[in-house]
Amino acid sequence: MSVRRPLIAGNWKMHVVGDEADAYCAELLRLLDADGVPAAELALFPPFTALERVSGALAGSDVWVGGQNVHEAESGAHTGDISVAMLAGAGCGGALVGHSERRALGETGPALAARVRAALDGGLRAMLACGESLEQREAGETEDWVTGQVREGLAEIRPDDVERFSIAYEPIWAIGTGVVATPEQAQDACALVRRVAGEFLDRDQIRVLYGGSVKPENAAELLGQPDIDGALVGGASLKPADLLAIARAA
Ligand code: 13P
Repeated sequence: MSVRRPLIAGNWKMHVVGDEADAYCAELLRLLDADGVPAAELALFPPFTALERVSGALAGSDVWVGGQNVHEAESGAHTGDISVAMLAGAGCGGALVGHSERRALGETGPALAARVRAALDGGLRAMLACGESLEQREAGETEDWVTGQVREGLAEIRPDDVERFSIAYEPIWAIGTGVVATPEQAQDACALVRRVAGEFLDRDQIRVLYGGSVKPENAAELLGQPDIDGALVGGASLKPADLLAIARAA
């Protein structure tokens, strides 16, 4: 069985404007220098407007930068979208696909598999997000729903993509709510994600992350679960010290 390096990714969502991105990167680099680089791999998903400055500021560090979304088409009439080449040109090494906040706007279905494929074909890493709503969990539909999301999102994946691919399980009811999944709930769902992803990729190699109200205080217990290989962090990633505290808990 291969050892999976933990991956801690910060999703800034629609936060961090202009110079704030420079200050963030300076602080992150200062902390990495002062306290050492964590064993976990680090990634950031800044808003599109900050991609170039963040990737520039962090060039030469081990932190990779990704887009919060990516379109499957190479180019064309897609107002408001962003292509793989645009992300790569802005210094990105990856892209997030299918975050629940995008799915809620109608970005669902086979296009997500095409986005994963496009990102990987363009030399980027791809991180697919999945997760159920509170209503689905309470109705006992979590397993069927998440299984369907993983199968749909991996429809175009190939076994040799595994090193540049990851899946973030983010229950919608835990996102931005302060209500974190219990370690058992998170472990069970991440084990399910791994099992289903194992239909397409080497299950021992694929990294499965948990996301939803991850903080320095709850990170160690979540990241200590056998099928949780990292975290996708929203709110707490806006402070470099908190992101690094989570990474050091991995
Ligand atoms: P929070 O960590 O703010 O709950 O956000 C989770 C998330 O959606 C990351 O993509």
